Amino acid sequence: MFVSKNLSVNENGHLTIGGIDTTQLAKKYGTPLYVMDEDLIRENCRSFKDSIDRYYGGEGLVCYASKAFCCKAMCRIMMEEGIGLDVVSEGELFTASSVGFPMDKVCFHGNNKTDEELSLAIRYGVGRIIVDNIYELERLGRLAGEAGKKVGIMYRIKPGIDAHTHDFIRTGQIDSKFGFALETGEAFEAVKKALEIENVELVGLHCHIGSQIFDIDPFVLAAEVMINFIAKIRDELGFEVKELNLGGGFGIKYTDDDTPVPYDKYMENVSVKVKELCKEKNVSLPFILIEPGRSIAAPAGITLYTVGGVKNIPNIRTYVSVDGGMCDNPRYALYKSKYDVVAANKASEPKSETVTIAGKCCESGDLIGEGMPIQKVEEGDIIAVLATGAYNYSMSSNYNRIPKPAVVMVKGGESRIAVMRENLEDIVRNDVD
Ligand code: LLP
Repeated sequence: MFVSKNLSVNENGHLTIGGIDTTQLAKKYGTPLYVMDEDLIRENCRSFKDSIDRYYGGEGLVCYASKAFCCKAMCRIMMEEGIGLDVVSEGELFTASSVGFPMDKVCFHGNNKTDEELSLAIRYGVGRIIVDNIYELERLGRLAGEAGKKVGIMYRIKPGIDAHTHDFIRTGQIDSKFGFALETGEAFEAVKKALEIENVELVGLHCHIGSQIFDIDPFVLAAEVMINFIAKIRDELGFEVKELNLGGGFGIKYTDDDTPVPYDKYMENVSVKVKELCKEKNVSLPFILIEPGRSIAAPAGITLYTVGGVKNIPNIRTYVSVDGGMCDNPRYALYKSKYDVVAANKASEPKSETVTIAGKCCESGDLIGEGMPIQKVEEGDIIAVLATGAYNYSMSSNYNRIPKPAVVMVKGGESRIAVMRENLEDIVRNDVD
């Protein structure tokens, strides 16, 4: 009935998440409110881990892409689940470190890491720094030398696969700000260079072909391209690349139009291809890493809002105004992303209306969505936007000086605050007058 399996309707006709009445959560913690279901987050982690165990003999590591949703509680959950972490800034790295996250399981990404970020990563002993370009390689070599350390690196490679088009295309993705291109020989030259530089050890290669992908084939093709490159490096440079990081990007169900592939199937097909090719090319099987972000966090989250009013513009549309908006969920404004919505206090009623849900920011484009089927709503109703666990809190802003909502975690029928609601003092905290 709902896009995420942790949602249901109770005997009062109220939407529940992880068995808890969402209208009670709204009452207790206020709105707007992000609610994350810890049990589902953990279940998602386990299904990725299990699929690597099952199909790749456990020779791999799942690294949660923390850009999807990062806070101390989330890092702690990942740590407890034995999952690694993909971080892309010193902020994410610091959050991980502040809960004592094992740094050997951290992958540090970014196309323009600062010296400060690289130094912090070296100091923390981050397991794998994903080097994006030659400037970074040289800076990292120097900084590691100064620190008297040797750092493990992976190279970010553009495998030349665009998975975002309806029919994915094989080449033509040289135009990306991320990584080294294969086709031009840039990646091969960079490998040679890494082998010459002291204080860095090239442990692996990385690629990431996009996000919210529903096809398995582009992932399999990416794995094929990467193994072929690993074989070329072995043949021509006599160097064995030990690890292969295949990135994230697994699609999730936002609305009934989305049909995600089971993770198992993805891992099965990729494993078969990797094993087959390695055998054929006589290359040792690499240790595999994957970096799911959205697929771990998004289905576990919802956002609750209170309706402030309903404006019906005859023959045009009905605006339902909520107490949040693009400041807590910029995805419609940015990508025209679609979501399912439910009137949480009327969840058993039929969805008889089609509305535009508008935020409270001073901007016409501040919408949560248009043409959204929903129950008949009025002032004071609670609206739940579903599958908002990824790239909502993490992409929120203080536009219009609106404080960020709290994040509440639910687990085993209990709720707790994971991130406190910002207050007005927080808004002026860094101002100097
Ligand atoms: N690894 C790398 C190197 C990435 O760049 C990303 C996402 C991931 C892993 C995780 O991808 P996922 O499994 O979450 O699809 N803000 C956009 C999504 C941007 C994704 C950026 N990179 C959105 O709201 O849809």
